[in-house]
Amino acid sequence: MTQQREQWSSKLGFILAASGSAIGLGNIWKFPYIAGENGGAAFVFVYLICIAVIGLPVLVGEILMGRTTQRNPVGAFNRLSKGNPYWTALGGLGVVAGFVILSFYSVVAGWSLGYIVESMKGVFSTFTDASIANEHFGSLVGNPAWILGYHGLFFILTMVVVYLGVKDGIEKGSKIMMPILLFILLILVIRGLTLPGAEKGMDFLWNPDWTKISGESVLIALGHAFFTLSLGMGAMMTYGSYLSKKDNILNAATQVVFLDTLIAILAGIAIFTAVFATGQDPASGPGLIFQTLPVVFAKMPGGSIFAVLFFLLLTLAALTSAISLLEVVVAYFVDEKGWQRHKAVMTFGFATFLIGVPSALSFNLMSDFTIFGNTFFDAADYLASNILLPLGGFFIAIFVGWVWGIDKAIVELKNGAAEMIDGNPWLMTLWSIFLRFLSPILIFIVLLYKLGII
Ligand code: PFF
Repeated sequence: MTQQREQWSSKLGFILAASGSAIGLGNIWKFPYIAGENGGAAFVFVYLICIAVIGLPVLVGEILMGRTTQRNPVGAFNRLSKGNPYWTALGGLGVVAGFVILSFYSVVAGWSLGYIVESMKGVFSTFTDASIANEHFGSLVGNPAWILGYHGLFFILTMVVVYLGVKDGIEKGSKIMMPILLFILLILVIRGLTLPGAEKGMDFLWNPDWTKISGESVLIALGHAFFTLSLGMGAMMTYGSYLSKKDNILNAATQVVFLDTLIAILAGIAIFTAVFATGQDPASGPGLIFQTLPVVFAKMPGGSIFAVLFFLLLTLAALTSAISLLEVVVAYFVDEKGWQRHKAVMTFGFATFLIGVPSALSFNLMSDFTIFGNTFFDAADYLASNILLPLGGFFIAIFVGWVWGIDKAIVELKNGAAEMIDGNPWLMTLWSIFLRFLSPILIFIVLLYKLGII
């Protein structure tokens, strides 16, 4: 039934692709803002603990499930649970989450693509104050043709990469895009740090304000750890399924986590130094990137070039994440239903684009259409980020820790990492405690909180 499965050509290929999945809108758009608002360095400290205690252990578990079974999430749960229908259905939840996230993620990614064009046209140079930038943003997203056009264009880019396959599309694309991304970010960090007044931005980001650390900010850190590492829906499982048994997963996962965190922190530095140096307010949410930054670029020497670079950076980051989302869906149809990759990409790329249409129209034609008081866009975001991902992460931790069984998992993990594990027995003790106890308990608390139960 199944065709010959592809594999990454090297461990580096995997690390770049997996980092590409992890590094996305979450790092560049969301992290700087939530860190700034929740106590700066104090929040970063809490976030790093969440990444170490939950993020890394669950990431290792996900990649391991994929590599062991060489299957998509549905196939992986099915094989490891010996055909249990409930666990198999849980893998299906990951495929659904892939659909849902991609449908709204690509809308924001489309704005970023559109903003590359706006900055190339030099539109931002006339933005002398925030109200002009706000109005401009409002008129763009209020235009269904603009928003759907870029949403569609972003989809085409995503589909082309996935269409080309694991090695020639995703791996090659990541090997080209990730170094460019890092390079652009470094240029922007240097630009930000050398602006007069940059230290106010650094203060905002780094002054630990412990009074802002509350139960809520801990939960925000925990929820973000999931989103940013692409955990809980099988993206990392799918990428892990293209790894060979000789690769060291512990080491690869640690590098992915390191890169993801590094990029988020660098993005924070690049953005806040520039925002403060040009005397702007650190606004929140989409506003920071699409409304405040254009004004920042207008006031900055050489701003139009930096604007093009910034939105290129954001688009590349979003693209390498979007391809991992589409790949989950494609891998399922290729592995389980015996479809050709090309057919799966065309069918589900187009289907996900269509599901994203109401999200795109939430900003204009369908702004009055609400689900439980949220626009379609907000509802899709809420469903995926607040429910599907934490739920998926919870069950992955339980599954690896208890159902498949930590001992069997450790035997598998030793493939490619035997020396490291045998030489440091404490590593597996920690993994076991974090995965079996700490992660499920903490994720459960987050879930209850996000659902408004506590
Ligand atoms: N990790 C991506 C980000 O930080 O933007 C978002 C994401 C990608 C979440 C892929 C989940 C996923 F499967």
